[in-house]
Amino acid sequence: MVIRCCFVTAELAPLVKAGGLADAAGALAGALHSRGVDLRVFVPMYAELDRSTLSLEPEPGLADLELSLGRHRYRYSFVRARRAAGPDLLLVDCPELYGRPGVYGDAEDEHHRFALLCHAALEACVRTGFAPQVVHCHDWHTALLPTLLRQRYGRAPELAGARSLLTVHNLGYQGWLPASVASELGLPEGAVETAGLAADRINLLRQGLRDADAVSTVSPTYAKEICSPELGMGLDEVLRARGDEVAGILNGVDYSTWDPATDPHLPHRFSAADLSGKARMRAALCDLLGLQDAPGRLLIGIVSRLVWQKGVDLLEGALEEPLADGRIAFAALGAGEPANEALLESLARRFPGRAAFRRGYNERLAHWIEAGADAFLMPSRYEPCGLNQMYSLRYGTVPLVRRTGGLADSVRHFDPATGEGTGIVFNDADPAAVRWAVETAAAWHQDHSLWSRIVANGMREDFSWDRAVEEYLQLYRQIAERA
Ligand code: ADP
Ligand code: GLC
Repeated sequence: MVIRCCFVTAELAPLVKAGGLADAAGALAGALHSRGVDLRVFVPMYAELDRSTLSLEPEPGLADLELSLGRHRYRYSFVRARRAAGPDLLLVDCPELYGRPGVYGDAEDEHHRFALLCHAALEACVRTGFAPQVVHCHDWHTALLPTLLRQRYGRAPELAGARSLLTVHNLGYQGWLPASVASELGLPEGAVETAGLAADRINLLRQGLRDADAVSTVSPTYAKEICSPELGMGLDEVLRARGDEVAGILNGVDYSTWDPATDPHLPHRFSAADLSGKARMRAALCDLLGLQDAPGRLLIGIVSRLVWQKGVDLLEGALEEPLADGRIAFAALGAGEPANEALLESLARRFPGRAAFRRGYNERLAHWIEAGADAFLMPSRYEPCGLNQMYSLRYGTVPLVRRTGGLADSVRHFDPATGEGTGIVFNDADPAAVRWAVETAAAWHQDHSLWSRIVANGMREDFSWDRAVEEYLQLYRQIAERA
């Protein structure tokens, strides 16, 4: 059976990226396409979408359409984007909503940007006679799709058999809106519920979790965690109330982008068979960041959005002593909450030559840190999947991770007695636990053969999308059978 899927996402690597959603959606769409799924991939035509590798042409029959959201009337069209590899994209072109800087914003019409994306995708299916069995949406931005299908578009013959799958990449972002804008989502009155006890607000993710035919998330452990009050972020009850289980499918890694043997960002490439390029990358990274290149010193890297989720504040009190006595060096890249940026800036200021922080978003430096660091630190409070720990494994960079979500599912704590394991896994979200992990790594790093063993174990791991895409296909088939 050929599966037809309408795939709708707010981000898609490599064209437009704010975080891991882009990596996951971009690679999954590519993997589904190569497995023969008949896909229509919808993405907003943001001003900052990287057009350099695309060949663009207007999509016939899908020009100059109109959508009313409350008293706002929008005109939009579709542009087909052909790429050298991967499925074509259908870009939703609405300059009034997408012709501004940034993927996300805080303007008053932010909800219109994503409501329009959802309407546009279903409208395009109807107008082109495309009848998907699966409508696959991701996170709060597209969580309105299940409700739109049930309440507005499901009567169209093209969509009568369509079933929705909502994949949660991060339960921490829910799309809270004042109840007064419920009438601006293009749905019949009463279709969108106020959010439980918060009678004056609506919550788009909650709405999607109630109305979707199936729900999945991006790791088996996170699938369990979000059904508990501790990590359910107020939505655990809604998840438990569903008749079915939340499927947990660990994201894969796009090794065509993240492989040190072929990575075009790196001046020195390497593989498990020959790590000399990694030593040269370490030296190049130290040079770039103004760090002393002392090979006996453990160089720890971080590349992260600097938000509460990522636990960067837990570094305070964990790194100072090993930095001061020269056991570790530290290279961080990221942007986010001012307090986290200030903490990293202060480490760089207090430990010149040993700690460096680059504020901002920098794709190339992210690859350099993965390649040049000895270890990679992810002290996340919660982590639906996390990608950098899997990139680190392939780059011979030992991950130091908290035992949560996808980190717990992808890194095995190393046991010196058996020589098994791929990283260092700690339990608590506090500076003492981070310090324990850092000091354990620094001590193990002194033992060359032990460290080489951890590195080799990690580089052998295979998190390619081949496995994950099979699990999605199985889920798609199950969903399609319900139609
Ligand atoms: P999340 O989606 O929660 O941010 P993930 O680990 O799934 O976390 O994915 C983050 C992705 O974004 C990775 O590809 C990482 O390299 C990238 N990234 C995060 N911050 C930066 C930055 N400042 N510069 C470059 N890449 C970044
Ligand atoms: C989210 C999560 C991250 C996950 C990514 C891709 O942004 O925070 O853990 O890897 O989505 O699914």
